[in-house]
Amino acid sequence: MCEYCGCQSLATIRDLTNEHDTVVNLSGAVQTAHHDGNTPGMAEAARAIAAVLRPHTAVEEAGLFPFMAAELPGHLAALEAEHRHIEAVLAAAADGTPTDPAWPQQLLDTLGQLRNHIPEEQDDVFPAALAQLSAEEWEAVEAVCARVGTAVPTSATGASAG
Ligand SMILES: [Fe+2]
Repeated sequence: MCEYCGCQSLATIRDLTNEHDTVVNLSGAVQTAHHDGNTPGMAEAARAIAAVLRPHTAVEEAGLFPFMAAELPGHLAALEAEHRHIEAVLAAAADGTPTDPAWPQQLLDTLGQLRNHIPEEQDDVFPAALAQLSAEEWEAVEAVCARVGTAVPTSATGASAG
């Protein structure tokens, strides 16, 4: 038993932030592959990004955002619309390398949007969540984290960076 001290909320925000960092690094891999004319490499990195974002977005949208809807309704709707757009472009690579010649540029444009999207969450939504959510609400967020997992093991899990 752990008397609530705020550690759960900080751990959740830390994990979400780590996942953002991983996505930014992977988007660098996309740019490198694009520079090399390596569309299959872009698609592979896109699948890796999608794997990180699948549970990450679920924690944000099913865990965090519902508790903040009264405070930031328009902002959250815009972030969710951006999530759907990002998912759609990444999904084009789900089963292999997209044959649409427009896809590589769509992916680069989308990842550019994602790099703007991440600070909006980290600078606005996450601090607001830390300020607003109650202990019970953080427990509900934790339950979503436990259900959906993460594609980016934290140091606490003992995973090595390989
Ligand atoms: Fe996020």
